[in-house]
Amino acid sequence: MGIVIRKARVADASSVLELVNGLAKKEVMLPRSPASVIENLRDFVVAEEDGRFLGCAALHIVWSDHAEIRSIAVRDVEQKRGLGKQLAERLIAEARDLGIARVIAFTYVPGFFEKLGFERVEHASLPHKVFGDCLNCPKFHACDEIAMRLVLSDDAEVHLRGPLSVPLSALPSPVTAATS
Ligand SMILES: CC(C)(COP(=O)(O)OP(=O)(O)OC[C@H]1O[C@@H](n2cnc3c(N)ncnc32)[C@H](O)[C@@H]1OP(=O)(O)O)[C@@H](O)C(=O)NCCC(=O)NCCS
Repeated sequence: MGIVIRKARVADASSVLELVNGLAKKEVMLPRSPASVIENLRDFVVAEEDGRFLGCAALHIVWSDHAEIRSIAVRDVEQKRGLGKQLAERLIAEARDLGIARVIAFTYVPGFFEKLGFERVEHASLPHKVFGDCLNCPKFHACDEIAMRLVLSDDAEVHLRGPLSVPLSALPSPVTAATS
């Protein structure tokens, strides 16, 4: 049957956790909690061969014009076979289908992302919303990951269609809306 890249199912969650947290112990990527994998399972794709789990990756929408590739990992013995590239390309295609203008990643392996067309950017050049989940990160006070960005479209910000045809950033926050 060969290699298949497919959407994750709940039965994949334990394999994702084992792979990602095994690599996180070697400090090559960040760990994930069981809850964060299950709750965000729709973000994940997996690579398998003849039913064997080989790797995973996730695309998380962080704002109307940014999605982040997270938790991209391939089993040690299966690396350098093009699986990481196939996983990332599947997620980039998903981002295009969603109309998202920019894909970002925070990584210790910039060379892998550069091969996919990403460029290094300053953390400060990214919108604040992108760093929301950093509050839960063990490296919150000492982030040493390199920020990478792939520009898919020049649209600075997606505008909602119909009666709400204003930029998302111009909409009131829930707190403002509740008090006004
Ligand atoms: C990074 C990782 C996902 C790459 O997966 P992979 O299946 O080995 O990568 P691929 O075989 O698809 O490589 C695609 C290209 O990237 C290059 N590449 C892969 N890893 C690289 C690295 N660490 N540095 C530079 N280039 C790299 C390959 O040489 C290949 O180039 P080519 O197209 O010119 O042949 C994998 O090495 C891994 O799981 N690493 C541990 C976890 C990790 O660091 N994840 C990233 C967290 S953001």
